[in-house]
Amino acid sequence: MTKYVGVLTAGGDSPGLNAALRGIGKAALGHYHMQVLGFRDGFRGLMENRTMALDGATLSGILTIGGTILGTSRDKLHRMDLGGRQMDMTDVIVDNYAKHHLDVLVCLGGGGTIKNAFRLAQKGMHVITLPKTIDNDVAMTDVTFGFDTALGVATEAIDRLHSTAHSHHRIVVVEIMGHRTGWLTLGAGIAGGADVILIPEIPYTLERVTEAILRRSRGGKGFSIVAVAEGAMPAEDAAALRMAEERRGQAERKGDRQHAKAALVELATGQVGHTIRLAKQLEMHTGLESRVTILGYLQRGGAPSAADRLLATRLGTACATLIDSDVYGVMVAARGEDTEPVPLEKVVGKRKMVPLDHPWFQSARLVGTCLGD
Ligand code: F6P
Repeated sequence: MTKYVGVLTAGGDSPGLNAALRGIGKAALGHYHMQVLGFRDGFRGLMENRTMALDGATLSGILTIGGTILGTSRDKLHRMDLGGRQMDMTDVIVDNYAKHHLDVLVCLGGGGTIKNAFRLAQKGMHVITLPKTIDNDVAMTDVTFGFDTALGVATEAIDRLHSTAHSHHRIVVVEIMGHRTGWLTLGAGIAGGADVILIPEIPYTLERVTEAILRRSRGGKGFSIVAVAEGAMPAEDAAALRMAEERRGQAERKGDRQHAKAALVELATGQVGHTIRLAKQLEMHTGLESRVTILGYLQRGGAPSAADRLLATRLGTACATLIDSDVYGVMVAARGEDTEPVPLEKVVGKRKMVPLDHPWFQSARLVGTCLGD
């Protein structure tokens, strides 16, 4: 019996998505003789029945291309925005899955996508997810595809910032993505030789950062590179944010949307302009001129690295093999050189922070990097 495979990409785009689509599609079509149908723009396309045939022609020549040929969106199934109204569209999606006679829906994405996929699995759909995000924050997998490419981009940026910071005797504060984890900043900070690395896992104090920069300055190094994760924060803000998060959780549990939203706004505004504020504070406390560079979407765009192409192809082809064996309700994880299906209930709702005993911290400290604590 020919199997019918639906595929979508959801959440922020990430280098390697097309390589993964190609891996799933080529193995499914050519090796396992399945049929593959793409849905455009994530779960929204499945809800609206917007499809794209994934055949030999569409899958050809996409290995090296950034972004996703299917398009993506950040919709939550139970709260889809329909012209300003938030609607639960889960059942519509379950109906559309049945209308297309699908045997499985493959969802390529990070934490939000896994939540959506798990919801569909609970409604009886066969789903498989692949761990994609530049943030590397998906639990139960060694790594996610997109991370290596973004790491390379951020490292090259730090390299380039060195020569201009050095020439002008400035502090350059570079903001790196990573959502609420520090994988990208810590990795690129070490690889690029940043003098200070600030990440959400270690709330920092301004005094420590100032001291580290002044120590360099006294030692004859009049410039410093500060790599700061978008989610990093000073210790006092971290405490305030934890309280806002608790209030949000309580309000959500009570179904109190208004207060949950207010707490969320508080959380978000805590972070706005954080990097610029830090640069100004450092300028004031050290007497050195400072500049800010926010890398932003440059880190997500463009061609995937060789490591991401390889990882995405391994996960994509392993996914087709799992479908052939009727293994569903899992995320295809990277485990060493191999891959492994991990039940979705073990992954859903978990965020993989950098563990505080991670060897990268030790290496950073041993080369004299200030981590803000
Ligand atoms: O999850 C990937 C990521 O790039 C994060 O690093 C960042 O916080 C977020 O997406 C930005 O989201 P958006 O694309 O919705 O602006």
